[in-house]
Amino acid sequence: NLANFVQIVEVGPRDGLQNEKTIVPTSVKLKLIEMLSDCGLSKIEVTSFVSPKWIPQMSDQKEVMQGITNKPGISYSVLTPNLKGLEGALASGANEVAIFAAASETFSEKNINATIDKSLDKFRDVCKHASTNNIQIRGYVSCVLGCPYEGHILPKAVIKVSEQLLSMGCYEVSLGDTIGIGTPGSVDTLLREITQFIPADKLAMHCHDTYGQALANIMVAIMYGIRTLDSSVAGLGGCPYAKGASGNVSTEDLVYMLHGSGYETGVNLKKLIEAGNYISEFLQRQNGSKVSKANSKL
Ligand code: HMG
Ligand code: MG
Repeated sequence: NLANFVQIVEVGPRDGLQNEKTIVPTSVKLKLIEMLSDCGLSKIEVTSFVSPKWIPQMSDQKEVMQGITNKPGISYSVLTPNLKGLEGALASGANEVAIFAAASETFSEKNINATIDKSLDKFRDVCKHASTNNIQIRGYVSCVLGCPYEGHILPKAVIKVSEQLLSMGCYEVSLGDTIGIGTPGSVDTLLREITQFIPADKLAMHCHDTYGQALANIMVAIMYGIRTLDSSVAGLGGCPYAKGASGNVSTEDLVYMLHGSGYETGVNLKKLIEAGNYISEFLQRQNGSKVSKANSKL
């Protein structure tokens, strides 16, 4: 049933790992990507073509791309902040890239060393080159419900950046609650405003669970008709430029909630739990997914 289908974008190998202090070997990343590919996930964000000085954990991006056994029907996407990043992505055979803007001026400068306007200029160049190469482009807006430096962010700032990303060629914009500060109430306020300008089928929701609100916030997004959700296996993650931002909502918990509520995802929860346990064991960390913990006691 198509109306009940929810597209999950698995961001664990990228958003989940980018903040890990100890460098995860490429072979472990590849094993994780392979396990995720076997779960029925059709969109996996695998690495970033960003500066190794800024994000050392992603400095093996070429090796990761070369090592992936592409499974048909799966899009393996990568972050590209500028033309240099796009060139690297193209050379590595990427067929989908993501550009990442922010609704907060200070976050934009801390994260990508550019004002919002300047970053949009760079993204426009990325989009021009990506579209001549038949590459799909996804857009992110960070800090849509609050910024670690500026606090409250107005919906109109989010709308402005989102519209620009769409007009330069992004097929959808993922709204990032980078520090997980949103609540169902603030998500409702944002989505009520933004959907007056941008249809829900051009939007995705990217929730972090810092304050334990992610699943509740996602249910509000679903009620607004949003059918694309970002999540991270084992709830891995955090943003290096958003101190205290804990992991993304865990894919296992998201899938459990969606399946239990009558939505389809195409994801095999059992296999997903195995993938989450694999990476958690490697990181010597308790699995951040509640569903995984519950299951392990069954
Ligand atoms: P910059 O220093 O302003 O770049 O960084 P520059 O153009 O001035 O170049 C300086 C040096 O960086 C040069 O090298 C360039 O070649 C190199 P040098 O001559 O000094 O040896 N360089 C690059 N190297 C590799 N790949 C590139 C690249 N570009 C320049 N693409 C830059 C600007 C954007 C590169 C930097 O700030 C950066 O890499 N930032 C990464 C930020 C990042 O990855 N943040 C985490 C992801 S965003 C996120 O997590 C939020 C999200 O999940 C949504 C949410 O949760 O809300 C998406
Ligand atoms: Mg994120």
